Amino acid sequence: MNARDDVREAYASWAATYDTDRNLTRDLDGTVTRQVLSQLRPATILETGCGTGKNTPFLAEIGAQVVALDFSPEMLARARSKVQADNVFFAQADLTRPWPCANACMELVVCNLVLEHIEDLGLVFSEAARVLVDGGRFFVCELHAFWQYEGKQAVFQRDGEQVAVPAFVHHISSFLAAAEAAGLALVTLGEWWHAEDEGRPPRLVSFLFEEQLFRNKQVNR
Ligand SMILES: C[S@@+](CC[C@H](N)C(=O)[O-])C[C@H]1O[C@@H](n2cnc3c(N)ncnc32)[C@H](O)[C@@H]1O
Repeated sequence: MNARDDVREAYASWAATYDTDRNLTRDLDGTVTRQVLSQLRPATILETGCGTGKNTPFLAEIGAQVVALDFSPEMLARARSKVQADNVFFAQADLTRPWPCANACMELVVCNLVLEHIEDLGLVFSEAARVLVDGGRFFVCELHAFWQYEGKQAVFQRDGEQVAVPAFVHHISSFLAAAEAAGLALVTLGEWWHAEDEGRPPRLVSFLFEEQLFRNKQVNR
């Protein structure tokens, strides 16, 4: 099995308890996402790696239409049973393959706690740029590399054993390089600590990028 199959298998098992386990990273991500995005009112949102739909109800409040993708049927089943908003459409998709979305159809793309499981950031960023309208935003909230340097990654308990989900370290510069290559400009960068993280490195990093297709075309003419 490759890493992608291992990740999928891990989430098949974790789905049953993902929402109820003690998980400060999951909780902090929810807080950060609301803090950074609450002023936006996008007509269309693509949520990539929606999992059990932890952030989906919030996105359905700020956005008119939400498409939420994940490659785990078990995580999606949880999300579908929890989130029954009329303006949310869930679908199964692997983010390491071309996304099932038309060009320039989304005003906001979000990606929360997913990229540690995906080695190549290039396709994710180029697909985000492709599906965004000009001026659209790409919000990324992931484990901070400083946190990963301490050996931290997504883990859960199953039958008394700790299961670690396969993970890749992404440096801050790797996110920025992938964004630049895709034509996405950085708007804001945040480093985030949970209340229980005092004296420790930042747990999460968030980026808000903007699709600057039109401006780039003007400059390159
Ligand atoms: C830690 S969960 C995060 C879920 C949700 N975004 C949240 O913040 O609670 C990671 C999710 O990424 C999904 N995922 C990982 N690799 C993926 C891939 N290649 N394609 C689609 N989904 C993927 C997993 O199935 C899982 O639901």
